[in-house]
Amino acid sequence: MPGYQPSLQVNNPGSDTLARGFTLYKDNCSMCHAADLRGELSAPGVPVRDLTRFKKYKFGSTDQAIYRSIVYGIPKTAMGNFQSSLKPQQVWDIINYMKSKRTD
Ligand code: HEC
Repeated sequence: MPGYQPSLQVNNPGSDTLARGFTLYKDNCSMCHAADLRGELSAPGVPVRDLTRFKKYKFGSTDQAIYRSIVYGIPKTAMGNFQSSLKPQQVWDIINYMKSKRTD
């Protein structure tokens, strides 16, 4: 089949970034945003929204906006910043994982 051999040389980066993102999310985010991203909190009374609903994001849901929310945090809320604890690649892995769970 035309293109079959060359196609074997390229890799879809998707599954790796999602697998890494899943683990990073579980370790760094799920305690507040819940394993399913829907924000059933272990810390009661903290207003966390459903992160599967991108259209409801208060601080934007473009790649850059989510990156900003994670790396710099949201001042005066429980959402701290991950500037020193996550590398840029790790932040992108988490963002790709979040996008894979998007419902709107
Ligand atoms: C200590 C609890 C806590 C942890 C840990 C935490 N968050 Fe948050 N996060 C919050 C809270 C609370 C808000 C909502 C702030 C507000 O608007 O009141 C929030 C908001 C956000 C937003 C903005 C949503 C919007 O409406 O724009 C994003 C994106 C987000 N968090 C992603 C993450 C990711 C990814 C991680 C892990 C790297 C993480 N958070 C870790 C508590 C947390």
